[in-house]
Amino acid sequence: MTDPLFTPPFPQPTRNKRTMLRRFFIGWHSWIHVLFEKSYTMKMGEVRGRGQLMYIANELPLVDRILKGGTEFPKHPELVKGLWPLIGNSVFSANGQDWEHQRAMVNPAFAHTALTKSMPMMVGAVDAFLDRIDGMDRRKAINIDPMMTHVAADIIFRTLFSQTLDSERSAIIHQAFGRFQRLSHSASMLDLYGLPNRWFARRSERPAQAIRNVFRPIVEERFTAFHAGETPAHKDILQSLIEARHPESGAHFTLRQVMDQVATIFLAGHETSASTMTWALYLLAECPHIQDRGRAEVMTVAGDAPLSAAMLKDMGAVRNIFRETLRLYPPLAFFPREVPCPMQMRDKNLEPGAMLVVAPWLTQRNEENWACPHSFDPDRFDDPANAEMARQAWFPFSRGPRVCVGAGFAQQEVMTVIAAVLRRYRLSVKSGFKPEPISRLTVRPRKGMMLRFEAIS
Ligand code: HEM
Repeated sequence: MTDPLFTPPFPQPTRNKRTMLRRFFIGWHSWIHVLFEKSYTMKMGEVRGRGQLMYIANELPLVDRILKGGTEFPKHPELVKGLWPLIGNSVFSANGQDWEHQRAMVNPAFAHTALTKSMPMMVGAVDAFLDRIDGMDRRKAINIDPMMTHVAADIIFRTLFSQTLDSERSAIIHQAFGRFQRLSHSASMLDLYGLPNRWFARRSERPAQAIRNVFRPIVEERFTAFHAGETPAHKDILQSLIEARHPESGAHFTLRQVMDQVATIFLAGHETSASTMTWALYLLAECPHIQDRGRAEVMTVAGDAPLSAAMLKDMGAVRNIFRETLRLYPPLAFFPREVPCPMQMRDKNLEPGAMLVVAPWLTQRNEENWACPHSFDPDRFDDPANAEMARQAWFPFSRGPRVCVGAGFAQQEVMTVIAAVLRRYRLSVKSGFKPEPISRLTVRPRKGMMLRFEAIS
């Protein structure tokens, strides 16, 4: 007999549209809480707020058109504005030709995320994480949410700067990013409703600076050394960014520009992965039979040997857990783009300047695309009947020219965490604990993630 599928928590959509005021109060904490039943199945939706007109494109050919359109559909100014204190003008937020030039300049840096090259840094950071768990009182449940930030931030720290990240700086980052998300979410909500938001926008600058201050001294020292003609001590992402040249003018990035790119790669490179790790371990903790199968696979492929990139390639079950986690909890749940000029989509005449949203959260949970869309079923990715949907209706890393540059890196680090944890511990959820997913900049559990780690003897 097959085990019944587990359906993890998500905000229950209501059948009827709510009043604008009610939507405002519900949305104050999280975007995914304002959705209603039809949001998941509609082909294209329209929301007319006081401050913003928004279209939501769910139909698969529309999703494809928008994402593959790349620079034709720029990132929406609301997103750019919200992220500005943290990442400024960088490869994530830029548009048009500016983006093309920035992308050409940062591309060589991504050679340092090559999978075999980065694997030792991932294994080092994951071993340090396991040591931290080992050192804790495991008779009690552990809140793994900040710990996942630490391991993911440590991995990207090692790759960016050739140094490890200690607990103190990791805690600053986790807390400051949580604060930043809250404040910038509130600022965006107010903007959408055409209400004044200066207080929240200004307040979000402080946590953004706290995060940037964690790596500012490292960037400043290396930048100054390079421009003084010193031989670089490290060959890593930071060095590559400092040495990059503009494809037309040949100019290097300024210090401010390097800081913006570093902040982007640091943030894009750990917050999303940390979210995925947290949800993956939670889903496993709820499903002992899926844990057992994953563990058996890890033991067959790797035994007790240190994990390698080649071993991960042979771990199909672990890879499916990674994919299914991203289907259910895509860290970036919505991609807000801008309508560039008057155009027709389905029966709608889109107004230029309006927000055009592509939403993995909706498309990946649409019952027309996936059977039992809210249930955790990693095996669905092995079913040939789902192959087309896996190509079309699974896009947590986006698609087209603006696809995530770190997708392979993220897959490898999350799989390393899953494999390493399964090999050492049996996971379970703290009795009575039920996480609540909320979506601001990323999808995170509202009040942490309380799991138990029982050592496998
Ligand atoms: C599970 C982990 C990750 C997820 C789900 C994810 C998702 C995404 C998505 C959806 C985008 C496009 C956003 C949009 O179009 O609005 C993106 C862009 C980007 N990601 Fe990731 N990402 C992850 C990990 C990483 C890592 C590990 C790195 C770096 C090592 C990275 C670096 C970037 C950069 C630089 C961009 C901007 C690309 C461009 O516009 O040219 N991401 N990511």
